[in-house]
Amino acid sequence: MRHITIFEVGPRDGLQNIKNNIATADKVALINALSKTGLAKIEATSFVNPKWIPQLADAKEVMAQIERHKQVDYAVLTPNLVGLERAIAAKADEVAIFTSASEGFCQANLNCTIEQSFERFAPLMQKAKSAGIKVRGYISNIIECPFDGVTDPAIVANLTKRLINIGCYEVSLGDTLGKGDKNSVKTLMQHVTKQVPAQQLAGHFHDTYGRALENIDVCLEFGLSVFDSSIGGIGGCPYAPGAKGNVATEQLVQHVESLGFKTGIDVASLRDIAQNLPH
Ligand code: HMG
Ligand code: MG
Repeated sequence: MRHITIFEVGPRDGLQNIKNNIATADKVALINALSKTGLAKIEATSFVNPKWIPQLADAKEVMAQIERHKQVDYAVLTPNLVGLERAIAAKADEVAIFTSASEGFCQANLNCTIEQSFERFAPLMQKAKSAGIKVRGYISNIIECPFDGVTDPAIVANLTKRLINIGCYEVSLGDTLGKGDKNSVKTLMQHVTKQVPAQQLAGHFHDTYGRALENIDVCLEFGLSVFDSSIGGIGGCPYAPGAKGNVATEQLVQHVESLGFKTGIDVASLRDIAQNLPH
């Protein structure tokens, strides 16, 4: 039976978009609870400029206070070398770099062009390699951008290949706005899997229009077996107007298990956590 890895991104993608101030202790409690559900990957926080994402300004404290479980990799976002250095000091198990398939969002989210984002990644990748830390890549707006409109799938395929070539072990394909549907996701997957094997791809579907699960089904047919999700469906990106949260982890686990896949995750515990989320 095929195993599906669920990459929990709620503590990062979810909490980065909540307007209220969430106490560090509540973030730590959430990550600790998620660590006991069978998840193997938890994106815990971001080492970005705190002026850009004030909600995660306590990243260092969060990483210092969580109870680490051996079977869990605690991942963090790092947009540049400064972020990586902070992540290494905080003993992150892995980091993620992120860019966009569209220039408008790249500028809004990273204050640079796509090309400049890769220039920032170069020293980061070098340092991560020498420190022995795994790097995941993200591409936002794989289907549509809030500023530039519909994305060309060929651009996504080329950027995915580029991220693998610079040393990412996996690329997470982000439907930031949740605009994808079965047809557009199928076309995208046809382009991307011609350049990069499905084993190095992950799906990251925001569920703005309730189509994340059917889009994940398309990816499953293409052989992908890693999907990002957010406990309780919390989240969105402050620099993507209109974006809602990722597909809810508890829904995703239930969905893929009903299709006969294994996740090793206890869905009842996830539901309990989802009932008591910080807000
Ligand atoms: P910038 O202002 O152009 O950076 O921001 P800079 O290099 O000019 O530096 C300005 C100041 O920031 C300096 O400090 C730096 O030291 C500091 P100052 O001299 O003014 O005191 N700085 C940092 N501080 C802490 N940590 C750092 C860091 N880097 C610089 N890593 C930057 C450029 C990339 C830093 C900024 O644009 C940024 O932090 N952006 C992050 C935005 C973000 O986190 N967005 C949400 C996550 S992405 C997402 O949600 C999409 C995803 O879920 C997939 C999907 O759904 O599509 C992943
Ligand atoms: Mg996201």
